[in-house]
Amino acid sequence: MKNLLIKGENLEALKLLLEERGLEGSIDLVYIDPPFATGTDFKVSLNRSSTVSSANGGSLAYSDKIKGSEFIEFLRERLILLKRLLSERGSIYLHTDCKIGHYVKVMMDEVFGIENFRNDISRIKCNPKNFNRTGFSNIKDMILFYSKAKNPIWNEPRQDYSEKDKEKLFPKTDSQGRRYTTVPIHAPGETKNGRSSQEFKGMKPPAGRHWRVDVQTLESWDEQGLLEWSSNGNPRKIIYADEKDGKRVQDIWEFKDPQYPTYPTEKNSKMLEMIIKTSSLKNSTVLDCFCGSGSTLRAAEKLGRSWIGIDSSPQAIETAQKNLREDSSSTALFDSCSMYEMLDISEQSMV
Ligand SMILES: C[S@@+](CC[C@H](N)C(=O)[O-])C[C@H]1O[C@@H](n2cnc3c(N)ncnc32)[C@H](O)[C@@H]1O
Repeated sequence: MKNLLIKGENLEALKLLLEERGLEGSIDLVYIDPPFATGTDFKVSLNRSSTVSSANGGSLAYSDKIKGSEFIEFLRERLILLKRLLSERGSIYLHTDCKIGHYVKVMMDEVFGIENFRNDISRIKCNPKNFNRTGFSNIKDMILFYSKAKNPIWNEPRQDYSEKDKEKLFPKTDSQGRRYTTVPIHAPGETKNGRSSQEFKGMKPPAGRHWRVDVQTLESWDEQGLLEWSSNGNPRKIIYADEKDGKRVQDIWEFKDPQYPTYPTEKNSKMLEMIIKTSSLKNSTVLDCFCGSGSTLRAAEKLGRSWIGIDSSPQAIETAQKNLREDSSSTALFDSCSMYEMLDISEQSMV
């Protein structure tokens, strides 16, 4: 699919994707970061972005003034269309905050079905700060992750072990300085005549247990020095830290946003890359209908996915185009990113 950037109101644009472009059921991943009902005007100044509504010299990027039930209804209308656009293996990640997020969760349960709820991810967004109101300072926001159906695209992400993890999970060191741990070579459950109940070095598995692999594999592990024998003759399998591809990613993420964003509320590109790698494939299309600076589109482009971006703010579209252009000129890998269709459905263009 050809990449597409739409300038205009996203409700209209989503209808256009469904009705004129025939894209029902063809989007594998939606990431959206809609306004959070903060009651703020977000401005762009010459040097950097500002979230201060009275910033001198800044021009309005977008206004986040819809609140309460009106805001929930605003989102619901769009989510219903987004669900239609999602493929059967598609997923949606909705970035919100802890003030409004719980209401959004209830509404998303209704639209996508609570059985398709996957995660409520806490995203650490900034460094600890002093907070002068009575209460704990807020350093996280939330990302609600739903799939369209039972079997979404899922490429298990892995996170590198920290030095502390390595010390805890791989407490031993061999003669070459490699960190390792050991695990039993047997597991619960007896097999009567199977290959995992035969004798290994004159030993049977302990009562009520079976070898985790067949005896030939145990022999081969022993020959390769992959079994550690205790002083009383008990073998355990050696697992090296440097042979594991990291640990499973949990539902607390630390991806702080850029200190000098090109647009207010620009999101961390590494976070978007992780979401895209995990929940889409090379031939997938990624959609962001609140695309702001184009951070999702840039990450999708970098990872070789097709993308569709929508935003009603002229400032956002200008910034996204500039960012995509800069990416394309900074690396040969990005050559194709100039290859997108630009569609303007904003009121100005219709007058
Ligand atoms: C929080 S920002 C998104 C920032 C983006 N994730 C980034 O990394 O740059 C929300 C964006 O939604 C856009 N927006 C708000 N309401 C919209 C609507 N009804 N249609 C299209 N865009 C909308 C705003 O113009 C703003 O750019």
